[in-house]
Amino acid sequence: MNALFLGYGKMGSALGESWYAGGLVERLVAVDPGLPRGMSAEVVGSAADLVDEAFDVIVLAVKPAVARQAIASLPTRALSRAVLISVMAGVSCAQLCDAAGKDVPVVRAMPNTPVMVNQGCTGLYSVTLNDAAKRRQVKSLFDAVGVAVWLEREGLLDAVTAISGSGPAYYHLFSEALCNAGIELGLPAELARVLAAHTARGAAELQCKSDVSFVALREAVTSANGTTAAAIAQFEAQDQLRRLVNAAAQAAHDRSIELSRQG
Ligand SMILES: NC(=O)c1ccc[n+]([C@@H]2O[C@H](COP(=O)([O-])OP(=O)(O)OC[C@H]3O[C@@H](n4cnc5c(N)ncnc54)[C@H](OP(=O)(O)O)[C@@H]3O)[C@@H](O)[C@H]2O)c1
Repeated sequence: MNALFLGYGKMGSALGESWYAGGLVERLVAVDPGLPRGMSAEVVGSAADLVDEAFDVIVLAVKPAVARQAIASLPTRALSRAVLISVMAGVSCAQLCDAAGKDVPVVRAMPNTPVMVNQGCTGLYSVTLNDAAKRRQVKSLFDAVGVAVWLEREGLLDAVTAISGSGPAYYHLFSEALCNAGIELGLPAELARVLAAHTARGAAELQCKSDVSFVALREAVTSANGTTAAAIAQFEAQDQLRRLVNAAAQAAHDRSIELSRQG
């Protein structure tokens, strides 16, 4: 399979470089005016530099404001047999179909930054890609950098954005707070950082690998009247943490809808 990226910044290059390293794409071309260096992709500064080549997959990984212009700059042949995959937040399938033309199958993907370490989560949605083999192929691209799931409704992408798209930042914030608490308790800053980061990794591994529920995993660390119980009582007082997480996810969800409407 050959793949063309429009935009080869953080998300575009994370996907493209992993797919190439994993042998999922044999030919990798990217259009990015910043001409990022040291990549496996052949990076060109403008779509006009592309030879007259057709691509199997075209990934749109620019900021939404330049999406229409990026699609319009493509030579017609580039799109002739392609599936167009947009990783952009807040740009609807209808807007993408309008920009790409009705004959181009369009997929919306919402990955998250852990795709950079092949531990991502991606929600996928399409109304125009009906070929089962091509749908499997698209899913396998995102499964290669973590886990991917097809969604039944486009609206669910707003929920995926709120939970896993923005989610890494929530965990980083918690690690930052835990690290600062460690410093307050007298730990050297670097040690507090290492403890917070490795505790996050260890807990995440347990959550992903075991069939045990989150509740059971938590209870396994929490003996009656012990140290963990003392801390959990603080988090759970008046459901503080749960209310905060609900409010935060709702805010991200609402903002995602708002951004789609602005597009
Ligand atoms: N990062 C995330 O966690 C994440 C998660 C899910 C989805 N996304 C989506 O991914 C998209 C890209 O985000 P990002 O974080 O990767 O941004 P980024 O690092 O800024 O990458 C975008 C790249 O596109 C280039 N570019 C600008 N205009 C272009 C054009 N007309 N044609 C081709 N390339 C062009 C930019 O170059 P210049 O810098 O020179 O302008 C930049 O290198 C966004 O729409 C975002 O919603 C990001």
